Amino acid sequence: MKNIEFKTIAKSCKEEELSPEYKMLIDKAKESVKLSYSPYSHFAVGAAVLLADGTVFCGANQENAAYPSGLCAERTAMFYANAQCPTTPVKALACACFTDGHFTHKPGSPCGNCRQVLLETEQRFQHDMEILLYGENEILIFPSAKSLLPHCFVEDDLNG
Ligand code: THU
Repeated sequence: MKNIEFKTIAKSCKEEELSPEYKMLIDKAKESVKLSYSPYSHFAVGAAVLLADGTVFCGANQENAAYPSGLCAERTAMFYANAQCPTTPVKALACACFTDGHFTHKPGSPCGNCRQVLLETEQRFQHDMEILLYGENEILIFPSAKSLLPHCFVEDDLNG
């Protein structure tokens, strides 16, 4: 038996180090926490999707009394973008989390279901998307959805 290593390398940076385009995207994700409907968790998440043509779509988590019926911010924003622009690749997605009156100190990280959805979008357009995760102390930038979900299940796996 041998070990196989799956490696993920992300960049850690401060807001001042971001390009103007990515600073704008983080700002949109931060603004979008105001769109959150989160009466159960009181954990507001905002997401902003940047398309390859510069268009931005925003979303926020939408909760439901039947908990699993709710949807995370990342998928709300990504499905919105894909439904409005089904042929335009996604360049980047940013998200920010807000609770107890402030943005979280450490960057929030997309849940497993969201990672799978981001990956599908990436594969659908054959275009890597950078994933920017905002925290008050640091911002993490992952190079692709695949890097957040190594050894993933994709369309090709359906062919056996
Ligand atoms: N949530 C997101 O919107 N994105 C994530 O990546 C993690 C969690 C939402 C789901 C739920 O409304 C609340 O945060 C608490 O889990």
